[in-house]
Amino acid sequence: MADKKARLVVDGVDKEIELPVYHGTEGPDVVDVRPLTGEGLFTYDPGFVSTASCESKITYIDGANGVLLHRGYPIEELAEHSDYLEVCYLLLNGELPTPEQKAKFDYTVNQHTMVHEQLRSFYNGFRRDAHPMAIMCGVVGALSAFYHDSLDINDPHHREVCAYRLIAKMPTLAAMCYKFSIGQPFIYPRNDLGYADNFLRMMFATPCEDYKINPVLSRAMDKIFTLHADHEQNAPTSTVRLAGSSGANPFACIAAGIAALWGPAHGGANEAVLKMLAEIGSVENIPAFIEKAKDPNDPFRLMGFGHRVYRNFDPRSRVMKQTCDEVLAELGITDDPMLDIAKELERIALEDEYFVSRKLYPNVDFYSGIILKAIGIPTSMFTVIFALSRTIGWISHWNEFHSSPNKIGRPRQLYTGEPKRKHPRA
Ligand code: SDX
Repeated sequence: MADKKARLVVDGVDKEIELPVYHGTEGPDVVDVRPLTGEGLFTYDPGFVSTASCESKITYIDGANGVLLHRGYPIEELAEHSDYLEVCYLLLNGELPTPEQKAKFDYTVNQHTMVHEQLRSFYNGFRRDAHPMAIMCGVVGALSAFYHDSLDINDPHHREVCAYRLIAKMPTLAAMCYKFSIGQPFIYPRNDLGYADNFLRMMFATPCEDYKINPVLSRAMDKIFTLHADHEQNAPTSTVRLAGSSGANPFACIAAGIAALWGPAHGGANEAVLKMLAEIGSVENIPAFIEKAKDPNDPFRLMGFGHRVYRNFDPRSRVMKQTCDEVLAELGITDDPMLDIAKELERIALEDEYFVSRKLYPNVDFYSGIILKAIGIPTSMFTVIFALSRTIGWISHWNEFHSSPNKIGRPRQLYTGEPKRKHPRA
């Protein structure tokens, strides 16, 4: 792949350092900086803004043009023409399934949706008011205590079984978090239901009354799963890859990804958007909050805006906005103050020089919370749903990492601490 070279001249290094330059299918060329170590040099890139941590074939983002491809297919077309399990098959295997492969995949996932009965008792160890993400970190990591039969990470079949188990069990574990938090009994999954239908029923059915599936809400839920499925080497996905590089089992790696997703700068943003809209309270208050967001001395950020990679509209947010309108229309919600504030906030921000000059556009989290709230899902569950959706991305990257020769990830540093010094009593 190296058909170009970079040449580096460094003061104090008596020769020109030649570095291979690789090009991929899409996106910027990359400079292979590994030879620098032999010259006693490291690269320095806090936040990995300019660093390609790996080679991958799964997802590609063109931030300047607002493009997101999963195995080459645009997210807008996948959201329109595929369901979440078909996207799971695509991310994991590289191609869309034939009808027969899809039927087999759906059936196999459905056969793994229950969790071990003993895992149910883990929930009782938490306070009822525990944040569901705290519970998810615990119970997903605990899955490795139940599945000793498929933990050989070098065995492709074991990796496939783990993928099925994680895809299938995340909705069950997530719904159990919600039921536990409201003191209701857990609802078992049903094998005759689709993925999103099963999840919504486990969330809202009770032993006294079943949940009436609304196809519009169920399709919206499935689209939310799809829109969050994968997104290149973001913080949690990089966490999963790094944890995987030590040989940790897939359940522990996914638990690490869940923990990394929790932050409000990332996966916690959808919950933070709803809290921000509630704090703004009315359209009249928006200008004051816009000024807070622009104030470099004020830590307030406009939640749901901006992105490390997108310097254009996040293509997911366009689909999310359309889905939001569909859900609110289906539910007859025409006067949602949150939506009014969100739409006015978006209009103002897209005209304001501060946001325009910094290319801060609505991201995937800006409208998702409004949809989830309309479906009846509490804000505390929003990031759990993000984690549920992103599990396929994490396990696909984990699988890709282990499908080729690899080594443990071990970044270096620029040390600016104390030079070597003698202990005062040495
Ligand atoms: C996700 O990585 C992924 O792919 C993540 C994700 C995925 O699917 O995995 O896409 C999901 O996390 C989406 C992002 C959700 N987060 C939020 O909505 C939280 C609000 N957004 C910001 O915290 C911020 O935009 C980040 C964290 C998303 C991006 O941070 P960066 O890349 O470090 O942005 P930056 O600091 O380089 O921004 C440049 C400027 C700065 O101002 P100056 O120093 O130039 O004066 O823009 C400002 C920032 O202060 N800025 C904002 C802002 N986001 C950036 N100012 C106000 N409100 C904001 N939201």
